[in-house]
Amino acid sequence: MSQFLDHLKPFAIEIDGYLTDLLDKKINIENELKDSIIYSSIGSGKRIRGYLSWEIAKFFDADKSDALKLASTIELIHTYSLIHDDLPALDNDDYRRNKPSNHIKFSESTAILSGDALQSLAFEILSDEMEKIDATKQIRLINLLSKNIGPNGMVGGQIIDINSKENQLSIDEVNIMHNLKTANLFTFSCQSGAIIGKANDKEIDAFKNYGRNFGIVFQIIDDVLDKIGDPENIGKTLGKDEINQNKTYLNYYSIEECLDIAGKYSEKAINSLNIFDQLPEVFINALDFIKSRKF
Ligand code: IPE
Ligand code: IPE
Ligand code: MG
Ligand code: MG
Ligand code: MG
Repeated sequence: MSQFLDHLKPFAIEIDGYLTDLLDKKINIENELKDSIIYSSIGSGKRIRGYLSWEIAKFFDADKSDALKLASTIELIHTYSLIHDDLPALDNDDYRRNKPSNHIKFSESTAILSGDALQSLAFEILSDEMEKIDATKQIRLINLLSKNIGPNGMVGGQIIDINSKENQLSIDEVNIMHNLKTANLFTFSCQSGAIIGKANDKEIDAFKNYGRNFGIVFQIIDDVLDKIGDPENIGKTLGKDEINQNKTYLNYYSIEECLDIAGKYSEKAINSLNIFDQLPEVFINALDFIKSRKF
């Protein structure tokens, strides 16, 4: 795990610096909205989605500044999703990334608007001029991202989750929910990293499948950590799924079974990359990290 953190940590520091400059440059009005966007976007977060897109882009020789723009877009979308996820109308979570959630620190209205603003900022950044990406490729990326995070993607998964408080879900429905609310953004992260590099269609598809399975592993472990994580490490309130009666893997499986299933999806993710003669080790290490993470 520590070997992988040696890769992830420097990236997290780099993207933090990059996002700090970017947000300051992009947001011209100094007010509570700007403060709240910066509060939630900078200084914490594993940066795993941005990292994956970055590492995959690097693997396919993408331009570094294009790769940073893409990774920033992904992390801003992710931050928007967390701010909204924590709102009283959704998970009602007071603590996020080791500090009070956005709506606790600021207000509900500011948190809603910050999420809105982060989403449009992300699309602004992705559509800004790039170094080596032409407009056709950019439109492909924008279109893919929209599909992955909208009503047929992340937000579609969030509504299933919210409604699951009252409804029983079958395990197939939970899998659909995990796919939509979480794996879609991971899928985009991996696929888009390959797209901005010199990957061919087969290689893009390989990383798309890797991202899909990675995302499922990620959400299963998130469900497990909500139940048995250590509050010192996790940086968010534990036990919320049970309090909120959100349906998770823990409604169907024991911890051991969850870990076993996560292991199977992890193998699927690795097998997606078997078209490459030499399997890049970092992509296996990333999965090992996600499976055994404590935060
Ligand atoms: C939390 O994601 C939301 C889920 C999809 C489970 P992360 O665990 O990646 O959150 P940060 O970015 O590290 O705070
Ligand atoms: C959140 O899932 C998924 C998105 C934000 C899209 P969770 O509600 O399980 O995430 P945490 O546990 O609050 O981080
Ligand atoms: Mg939620
Ligand atoms: Mg939540
Ligand atoms: Mg969770």
